[in-house]
Amino acid sequence: MRVVIADHPLITHKLTVLRDKHTPPPTFRQLVHELMTLLAYEATREVHVESVQIETPVASTTGVRISQPAPLIVPILRAGLGMLDGMVTLVPTAEVGFLGMKRNEQTLEPETYAERLPDELHGRQCFVLDPMLATGGSLAAAIEFLFERGAEEVTAICILGTPEGIAAVRDGVGDRDVTLVLGALDDGLDEHAYIVPGLGDAGDRLYGTVD
Ligand code: PRP
Ligand code: URA
Repeated sequence: MRVVIADHPLITHKLTVLRDKHTPPPTFRQLVHELMTLLAYEATREVHVESVQIETPVASTTGVRISQPAPLIVPILRAGLGMLDGMVTLVPTAEVGFLGMKRNEQTLEPETYAERLPDELHGRQCFVLDPMLATGGSLAAAIEFLFERGAEEVTAICILGTPEGIAAVRDGVGDRDVTLVLGALDDGLDEHAYIVPGLGDAGDRLYGTVD
């Protein structure tokens, strides 16, 4: 598994405001959108393209366009939904599938409560969106889901990650083709398996508390 930690002062600046507990939900949502746009740029470096011949007003030239089948973007509900708009802004021809997962806060195991994905993912480049890579259980399960459907190449984009989360996903994916793009690598987990320093509960900060 390839791990890329986006290292850019604009990302670090936006992350600092995002982490601040005084940042209200509207600003938090806007920052997730902006961060996602920057991370999407990094994460799509290897997006599949094909040659295309075009005519400019001056000459004939060869360019590229994103190949078919179109990339599939998979936000993990809820919190991954906050990243979707930033990703489709950069790759408007992509298609979108959904996975709903909730970490059981007692067992820390992910529970899947919704799934709307194509049955067949052979040849599709998949991009999984989830802001938080904590224990890694949710992301590892989401990636496994996509490989079971035939995906051969998965890029996961997380705003924050931990060494524990990276190790768990790496163990899960083995030698399959997975790239993980992170906005920052945090220190680790607290006794409740929250990321430290982190930003708290990403879903709650985006959308409010539901339970
Ligand atoms: C959060 C986050 C990840 C998961 C990370 O979602 O968005 O999906 O926890 O934890 P893990 O790496 O230990 O599995 P949560 O389960 O809180 O659901 P939500 O997005 O609906 O708030
Ligand atoms: N889920 C979150 O939203 N935040 C964490 O720090 C860990 C899991």
